[in-house]
Amino acid sequence: MFDFFTHFKIKHSDLPYMLVYLGIFTAVIVIGLLTVNMSTVILMAISCLPILILLLHYHFYRANETLAIQQQQKQQAYFSLFNLIDFKLPIPYMTGWAATPELALAIYEIIKTEQPSQIVELGSGISSLICAYGVEENKYGAVFSLDHDKNYSQKTKEILLQHGMEQHVTISYAPLKYQVIKGRECSWYDCSSANCPDNIDLLIVDGPPVKTQKQARYPALDYFYSKLSVSATIVVHDALREEEAAIVDEWLQRYPKFSKEIIHSEKGIAILRKQV
Ligand SMILES: C[S@@+](CC[C@H](N)C(=O)[O-])C[C@H]1O[C@@H](n2cnc3c(N)ncnc32)[C@H](O)[C@@H]1O
Repeated sequence: MFDFFTHFKIKHSDLPYMLVYLGIFTAVIVIGLLTVNMSTVILMAISCLPILILLLHYHFYRANETLAIQQQQKQQAYFSLFNLIDFKLPIPYMTGWAATPELALAIYEIIKTEQPSQIVELGSGISSLICAYGVEENKYGAVFSLDHDKNYSQKTKEILLQHGMEQHVTISYAPLKYQVIKGRECSWYDCSSANCPDNIDLLIVDGPPVKTQKQARYPALDYFYSKLSVSATIVVHDALREEEAAIVDEWLQRYPKFSKEIIHSEKGIAILRKQV
């Protein structure tokens, strides 16, 4: 038997569409009730129903199609990653808050092709491990990772130790602290005891988490711009999310030296390259 809920996977993001379609349907009925008699309204509602069902069907068809493409992209990224990197142990699941396989692959490819000397990462985790494998293979470079969460920074240290990669990454616990950066009040990593490096070739922005404040990652470029090397690359995760997309656009207006490339993955990745 046709199972509606298996066929149509309803997600949070579908709700606005469903509300719009149902709103139109309700509006038609209300207008009908106010202007004509009940039997005409029932007739109108019945004739509108197939259109409503078709619209919803089209919406879910497109949503499922997008999901299938994203899943394939993810699988391809997994396969590439596991073919390219000789992991010593299984790696933690790349779900939830962790780096997506697409992000991990993008970071790894940049490290292999651009051979950065100094990598700085905001938000430690699997991405720190990927960076470590990259610099070990390059036999060149160092990774410096900031994390606002003590437990999480400890967890990342343990993962690195298990993989024998701890010598490549300095994980620094830097709680978020009220600061004014370039005239803007914000909550940002307290780097006072972190000894952040200069001359950064690759900056990976995957923290702080969005929930910590509005435009949580906005201060990243203001804070690190003067520490970037002449041809630095910046990788921004979640770049398709409204907030991060706005942040990247504003950065590009204020710092026009950067070019922008977008990887259209599930969460989106922006790669900004400083033009020499
Ligand atoms: C987007 S996550 C960074 C993920 C990291 N780049 C990785 O590859 O795993 C940003 C921050 O959220 C925190 N975090 C990570 N996973 C979390 C979880 N499951 N619940 C709450 N906070 C988490 C960590 O402090 C991390 O620095």
